[in-house]
Amino acid sequence: MSNMLEVEDLTKVFVIGKDANLIAVNNVSFNLKHGETLGLVGESGSGKTTVGRCILRLIEPTEGRITLDGEDVTALDATSLRDLRANMQLVFQDPFGSLNPRLTVSQTVEEPLKLHGMARAERLKRVAEMMRLVGLSEHFYHYYPADLTASEQQRVGIARALATKPEFVVLDEPTSMLDPSARAEILELLQDIQKELGTAFIFISHDLTSVAKISHRIAIMYLGHIVEHAPTDIIMHSQRHPYSRALLSAVLFPDPARPPDPYVIEGEIPTAINPKPECPLYGRCPIREDACRSAVPPMVEVEPDHFSACRRWRDVAASTQA
Ligand SMILES: Nc1ncnc2c1ncn2[C@@H]1O[C@H](COP(=O)(O)OP(=O)(O)OP(=O)(O)O)[C@@H](O)[C@H]1O
Ligand SMILES: [Mg+2]
Repeated sequence: MSNMLEVEDLTKVFVIGKDANLIAVNNVSFNLKHGETLGLVGESGSGKTTVGRCILRLIEPTEGRITLDGEDVTALDATSLRDLRANMQLVFQDPFGSLNPRLTVSQTVEEPLKLHGMARAERLKRVAEMMRLVGLSEHFYHYYPADLTASEQQRVGIARALATKPEFVVLDEPTSMLDPSARAEILELLQDIQKELGTAFIFISHDLTSVAKISHRIAIMYLGHIVEHAPTDIIMHSQRHPYSRALLSAVLFPDPARPPDPYVIEGEIPTAINPKPECPLYGRCPIREDACRSAVPPMVEVEPDHFSACRRWRDVAASTQA
């Protein structure tokens, strides 16, 4: 299937002081097909939210090209951007904070439809359809956000995002503030919605387990870079980047009695302010070589549809099997 969204060499620099450039997103490329979920995983500050916000043009990318159905969205004027917004939506981490406390549930879901000029009768039909889709019965229509549980609030946030039937939705940590059972419910709900509407998702999270449940492919971010990118099964079972391997090892083998993995990554995440032109993992990498210091390693397709930005990806594989 052809790509719906293409992100090429996306970079976002925040100028945070004289001679201080924070490179939040550093030359990131990926694509998304219709009806597909891409998981974007990484520790706090790795640039996940900034990628999502650049794609939706909530902030301006510094460099790079973003195309939706072949149209360059980085070059759109205000009117075209408004039309585009109906087609790309965002679900936030904080369900309560992202809802207007003065709007009822049905008004909340109706709001984006009003913005896009839909007639009232059609709007009401669409609100009912969305409420059914997210599993909220009619008696919720007149509730206010404060009357709802966190899980119900997030369902409302999802219904609002989907109301205009966008081609794709960026879900930015949509389950991280929910308890485990509510989290599982929302993940299932999102999968059901995707089957029914064919919506594509970018699912952002630092929780690899949640991401793996819902994503067809996963991109691992570190310090503004995508360091590895592959179908979910491959990321979970045969990582070819030392950072992904360390992340996986922490998730899959949390048992402290287990002998330490030689791939444990020590130390602190460095700063993204004025980064050196070297591998972003260089300072912490257990298998680094001098050459890793001379340039940011390029993405290599190590097998079909599996990309790693490690010069020593072959050695990562050997170690995984050991
Ligand atoms: N408006 C801004 N001005 C300056 N720096 C910013 C701004 N927004 C984000 N940053 C910085 O950009 C980097 C990436 O931030 P971002 O919020 O994208 O990370 P994240 O992966 O979403 O993290 P988290 O998991 O904590 O949500 C961080 O170093 C952050 O401090
Ligand atoms: Mg974030």
